[in-house]
Amino acid sequence: MNDSPDFRVTFRTAVVPAAGLGTRFLPATKTVPKELLPVLDTPGIELVAGEAAQSGAQRLLIVTAPGKDRVVAHFAENLSLEEHLEAKGKTELLEKVRRAPNLLRVDSVVQDRPLGLGHAVSCAEAALGADEDALAVLLPDDIVKPHGILKAMARVRAERGGSVLCAIDVPKSQVSSYGILEVEEAPKSASLDVLRVLGVVEKPALSEAPSTLAAAGRYLLDRKIFHALRRIKPGVGGELQLTDAIALLIDEGHPVHVVVHRGTRHDLGNPGGYLRAAVDAALNSEEYGDGLGKWLRERLDLDSSDAN
Ligand code: UTP
Repeated sequence: MNDSPDFRVTFRTAVVPAAGLGTRFLPATKTVPKELLPVLDTPGIELVAGEAAQSGAQRLLIVTAPGKDRVVAHFAENLSLEEHLEAKGKTELLEKVRRAPNLLRVDSVVQDRPLGLGHAVSCAEAALGADEDALAVLLPDDIVKPHGILKAMARVRAERGGSVLCAIDVPKSQVSSYGILEVEEAPKSASLDVLRVLGVVEKPALSEAPSTLAAAGRYLLDRKIFHALRRIKPGVGGELQLTDAIALLIDEGHPVHVVVHRGTRHDLGNPGGYLRAAVDAALNSEEYGDGLGKWLRERLDLDSSDAN
């Protein structure tokens, strides 16, 4: 696969669905949108915006809900805060505050009611340009590192057409928590990291799971997804599921491939996954890494000596 900048023409808009209720994070999400909870010092929504910008997106389209305006406000300038920091000579903080508004253009659409991820994506249709034949979707709950998976997905679309998903290989014990992909058997000569998708099974029992490849929160979708979303019925939990629309496209012969992500992935959607992401970021930071690592080792030693 060549690395020419042409892959950028594959999509211009990165859609970020952020209209969910965040119930797994209550009571915090009673008033604070889950997308604004910080990983160390940076909200999850800014992390995915950074990834989208790095992947060549020109515009972030946030799907937001009534009462969650602050998610979009995070990308506006705050001139009085900037003046204050400038006057105090706090240049590092000033850079941090200016980062989000300068990443890429940010627009929003409102999903009036949380009718599911598929419905949230369908809310983006009217805001796309008539010439945009594909869109990227990034779930702000999912932190996928290192960045670059969307570029790999764009190259796959440029070569093979259709839609492209991202998957992580999960332990067998976790398959029942994810949308699991049924994939073609890879020819021996082919790269194991790009496979044709034959179907998607939502949260299967281990005995029924067609693989251990779980769909992660990055999608590069052909515009045909909107036609499919109009034809599916509410699925699990009465919600319109994005995976059902993708499954419909596959049934109709639309090419869908998956790129297997071999880096790390954190799920910010629940307190346990969120904490791992925060600890990971802190351990990698110059400011907090050493101190936190030392404290964690002491804390864990203490636990194991308690157990003895
Ligand atoms: P999740 O199911 O992880 O988010 O959806 P949630 O619904 O906010 O969380 P819980 O289950 O109640 O704890 C994945 C992404 O899709 C968005 C969410 O905001 C999240 O970013 N979403 C989900 C919508 O935008 N609209 C919806 O109707 C549902």
